[in-house]
Amino acid sequence: MDQAESLRQLMSQGRGGGVRVIAVTSGKGGVGKTNVTSNLATLAAQQGKRVLVVDGDLGLANVEIILGLTPRYHLGHLLDGTAELEQVLAHGPEGVRILPGGSGVRSLTVLDDSQKMRFMSALDTIEDQFDLVLIDTGAGIGDNVLFFVGGAQEAVLVVTPEPTSLTDAYAAVKVLSLEGGVEHFNVLVNPAPSEQAAREIYEKLCNVTRRFLKARVKLLGYIPRDENLQRAVLMQKPVVQAFPQTPVSRALKVIADKLLSEHPPASSVGGLKFLWNRLLRETPEAAAAPQAF
Ligand SMILES: Nc1ncnc2c1ncn2[C@@H]1O[C@H](COP(=O)(O)OP(=O)(O)OP(=O)(O)O)[C@@H](O)[C@H]1O
Ligand SMILES: [Mg+2]
Repeated sequence: MDQAESLRQLMSQGRGGGVRVIAVTSGKGGVGKTNVTSNLATLAAQQGKRVLVVDGDLGLANVEIILGLTPRYHLGHLLDGTAELEQVLAHGPEGVRILPGGSGVRSLTVLDDSQKMRFMSALDTIEDQFDLVLIDTGAGIGDNVLFFVGGAQEAVLVVTPEPTSLTDAYAAVKVLSLEGGVEHFNVLVNPAPSEQAAREIYEKLCNVTRRFLKARVKLLGYIPRDENLQRAVLMQKPVVQAFPQTPVSRALKVIADKLLSEHPPASSVGGLKFLWNRLLRETPEAAAAPQAF
């Protein structure tokens, strides 16, 4: 049996699980994904949720830098058997656990099938220990992004109000839905001065996705430009902890409350292996939808 076949079999043994898996992604880079992930994780933990953050931007130590952590182990150690999962999971704010992505580790920048299989097997053993798994991804539509976002039931798509960001966001929705099987996208506009401004950006994206794609795209919210975010990054703390009474933190709280009060989409039932299983399905229509902007 080859590795791809073993992977397929492993993933088809999905079982029920209550964990909600949300990937944070974007078409364009540098739009706030890692900050959104880290702060939503912190807020969810403050609400009593057991939260795991997976740093899926492999090879770059995004999450640990923003949270001021210096973890001893990373995903690479887990995959090559040097460390057990419990050793690899770092301790972040409010009890959040973090699976570090391995800064500067080139072998992780494109995971092969056996690495993906080991990653999923490891996650499967801890599925019951968490209520929420947030995955910070790299920008764009690379193989690792497809793997991580495809394994989540839902994606938070961070969009910046620039034409290139919208074009890239559409490209991401297209590839992630057609090739990754992701059906639900929660759009987060960052930065935006108001709900109205965010809605205008969202409508532009929605007009095109509605015409060409089956994926459902909803407006989750917006974050204003606020220099307190940069100040918190320099302090290596989540802004919602460092400066809770600021515009950016208040906006993140509204977003967290909205996201966490929603029922996860029906497709979430089945456990992590089941979710990743969708990735291996053939998607012949993947090339069909046009580029639209
Ligand atoms: N609402 C905002 N107000 C002020 N600054 C912001 C805001 N959003 C993002 N930034 C700035 O953008 C920087 C990049 O954010 P972040 O690292 O979270 O982006 P990213 O999407 O994860 O980037 P990458 O694609 O490189 O992983 C922040 O450190 C901050 O300086
Ligand atoms: Mg990042």
